[in-house]
Amino acid sequence: MENKRIATLTLDDGRSIELPILSGTLGPDVIDIRALSKLGMFTYDPAFLSTASCSSSITFIDGDAGQLYYRGYPIEQLAERSNFLEVCYLLLHGELPNAAQKVEFKGKVTQHTMVHDQLARFFNGFRRDAHPMAVMVGVVGALSAFYHDSLDINNPAHREISALRLLAKVPTIAAMTYKYYTGFPFMYPKNSFSYVENLMYMMFATPAEEYVPNPKLVRALERILILHADHEQNASTSTVRLAGSSGANPFACVSSGIAALWGPAHGGANEAVLKMLEEIGDVSRVADFMKGVKDKKYRLMGFGHRVYKNMDPRAKVMRETCYEVLQELKLENDPIFKMALELEQIALRDEYFIERKLYPNVDFYSGIVLRALGIPTNMFTVIFAVARTIGWVSQWNEMISDSERKIGRPRQLYQGAAKRDYVALEQRK
Ligand code: SDX
Repeated sequence: MENKRIATLTLDDGRSIELPILSGTLGPDVIDIRALSKLGMFTYDPAFLSTASCSSSITFIDGDAGQLYYRGYPIEQLAERSNFLEVCYLLLHGELPNAAQKVEFKGKVTQHTMVHDQLARFFNGFRRDAHPMAVMVGVVGALSAFYHDSLDINNPAHREISALRLLAKVPTIAAMTYKYYTGFPFMYPKNSFSYVENLMYMMFATPAEEYVPNPKLVRALERILILHADHEQNASTSTVRLAGSSGANPFACVSSGIAALWGPAHGGANEAVLKMLEEIGDVSRVADFMKGVKDKKYRLMGFGHRVYKNMDPRAKVMRETCYEVLQELKLENDPIFKMALELEQIALRDEYFIERKLYPNVDFYSGIVLRALGIPTNMFTVIFAVARTIGWVSQWNEMISDSERKIGRPRQLYQGAAKRDYVALEQRK
């Protein structure tokens, strides 16, 4: 971080303070306000609309230009030319792997795809119709109980093995969650498959039949995982960082990230998009629905973003993937997809959405692709969590590796009662 400029804050009582302005490699400069406490004051920024919570070298978003880079590589190039495990290596280690590193990393992840057999018993505590995200929060958090030999977060080797275990086991747990919900038996990982083939195998195979993955559908799911792998300091990643800043173990931190991701304003939006499209029901009712959105009766799920004030670059790739998958499955005339395209076209032309810079985000099309792949709506955010696990773990690892790390502890603007004395019961009104 370079520090070349200064911001001077002058208060109405004449006091002033000089605050360094810091520049990163890309993106806006930031005002370092850490010295502000010398004035006995701090900033007020609910929901962190104007606050950088950390410095990071992992992912960069240019919201105005609609650009997303993982370690400097544009998401479009990675989605087109890379694969998910290679992207995981890149996010975790900072560079694309060479041939030997790629083989070694895949081998390490493959060794950890199975879960302890006792872990399977946690599922029986859940109702069969429990929301899969509720199960994921519980079972991923329960991993903390199985690896006491490697929970010293200050030990780089423990951090690495925990990262590998999470990357390898979250897909297995996700597939078990789906099987538990459907009543079908769990499928053990098949390590001869690729990471994504294995995920589809564990979800869709049964002991009674040979399972042959469809390469085009595997490629589509691989692309979805790449697009969702990391995204700067979003709500769930910030949750993982805050949990990790207390020294909590990585399994518990990732479980907290899954909980935060579940919300419909965040990772739960892909499920909410499908529900919205199904409720609209027919393309002839889109115009009416959009009137309701402008009257603020409901939100246009899958649209808008805290950072992107242009089209989310992931949504563009997702729209193409959507078309490819529907074509492969001979579903080009899928009414839900047609409705989504119509809705997008109306929104992109309507002043209400243009002036609010509301564009489709990654969740607008991902649900349609996942549904076409045979994944039920309530499993959409689970797939998002499978993808984002590497982002959470990479960001957690970056934070823990920082020798200057401190526990996160925001302050508040207190609006409650001033000091007052206790009132005996008989004197209360
Ligand atoms: C993800 O942060 C990340 O990086 C997240 C994510 C990731 O990869 O981790 O990208 C994944 O979460 C994508 C976002 C998925 N969520 C949705 O699709 C849900 C629908 N979108 C919104 O709820 C909303 O757009 C947010 C939460 C995404 C962003 O909200 P902001 O930045 O807090 O904006 P806001 O709520 O202050 O809204 C600003 C204006 C308001 O209008 P006015 O009061 O000024 O008149 O825009 C309107 C809002 O009413 N608005 C919407 C809208 N989103 C904002 N109006 C209709 N439909 C919407 N979706």
